[in-house]
Amino acid sequence: MSQNYFSHLVCAECNKRHDGNFVQNVCTDFNCLGSLLAQYKLDESTVTKEDIKSRPFNLWRYREFLPVVNSENIVTLGEGGTPLLKADRLGKAFGFSELYIKDEGGNPTGSFKARGMSVAISKAKELGITKVAIPTAGNAGVAIAAYGAKAGIEVVVYMPIETPEQHKQECRYYGAKVIEIDGNIGDCGKLVTELCQKEGYFNISTLKEPYRLEGKKTMGYELAEQFNWELPDVILYPTGGGTGLIGFWKAFEELEILGWIGKKRPRLIAVQSDHCDGVVSAFHNKKISVEAIDRGFTVANGLRVPKPYADKLVLRILNDYKGTAIGISDKEILQALSEISRYEGLFPAPEGAALWAATKQLKAQNIISESDKVVLINTGNGYKYTDNIWG
Ligand SMILES: Cc1ncc(COP(=O)(O)O)c(C=O)c1O
Ligand SMILES: [Zn+2]
Repeated sequence: MSQNYFSHLVCAECNKRHDGNFVQNVCTDFNCLGSLLAQYKLDESTVTKEDIKSRPFNLWRYREFLPVVNSENIVTLGEGGTPLLKADRLGKAFGFSELYIKDEGGNPTGSFKARGMSVAISKAKELGITKVAIPTAGNAGVAIAAYGAKAGIEVVVYMPIETPEQHKQECRYYGAKVIEIDGNIGDCGKLVTELCQKEGYFNISTLKEPYRLEGKKTMGYELAEQFNWELPDVILYPTGGGTGLIGFWKAFEELEILGWIGKKRPRLIAVQSDHCDGVVSAFHNKKISVEAIDRGFTVANGLRVPKPYADKLVLRILNDYKGTAIGISDKEILQALSEISRYEGLFPAPEGAALWAATKQLKAQNIISESDKVVLINTGNGYKYTDNIWG
């Protein structure tokens, strides 16, 4: 077993230290309840970039900087190691010289949620957890159902009734119990909290559990490596709960401590649905937290999150990284999806397509320039959204 540098957990809001060897959800300080961030003894690391390069291209190549202490607990379906595609034809047609798409659609279960769930379920196994519950807009539910099946952990999934049928059925195939709710993901979240309190399930909601974030941060490690440890100028991320955004920030801060990257940071851009744009509104109004906004269904189901749990951290990161936030309509999302498909031979999730619509708008506003090195994180595969895409 290789050395692992996982040390403890720290509250993102009050900095209180928490033990990483016990089952934890959020900061136990009653007035705080902040998200917990895994910490590593990075200054003790002897791992080199060359060590990493010699390993299989999946997320466990960064295992020393992931929280699973005993490698025997790793539950893997081959997640991570996704391609960074240069979107030359799309870029050229719309006046971008350095446009890239990191395509997460090839992950197990078809989305980047596989990264988070591989790490979260592995750590749950390490901590002896046997049953978990989650509110989900779709992809996270499918991913946790698959990793739960692989680990022999019982999974209960609460999903809005409007979620495309493909997501629900795939969960059932993996043996998860699917409970459909006539409401949004926030309503599902309340029922999960109740279930966990009453029946002892472990709550694995976005950022109410520390380790999904660790899986997502590997997108940042991978991207840095794929750009030969020189970060791009702009990264666009489809923001629901914001785990990916926080994951990029966490990855880059860790990589700088490791001495693998320098001080340069990309501008991080949060892209939301204009039906659910609480982060956009809070960011532009210079607020420190988000007020819930929900104007109903969007074709990008993963973006119907009225208020991210770690809203304050998301806003701090957008400010620190000189980013911005923008809301996109369903019509613009579907137009962008057809442009990406036609020019790049890639069928993205609507959440990923929203990023392309945002890129065009931000260029028109002179916030992104023609020569910027721009990366769109296509978080999922369009196959599971055909209900939404062609009705
Ligand atoms: C494809 C896709 N992209 C983006 C998101 C939003 O992710 P996060 O909640 O981490 O911001 C989701 C969430 O369901 C998703 O399924
Ligand atoms: Zn705290």
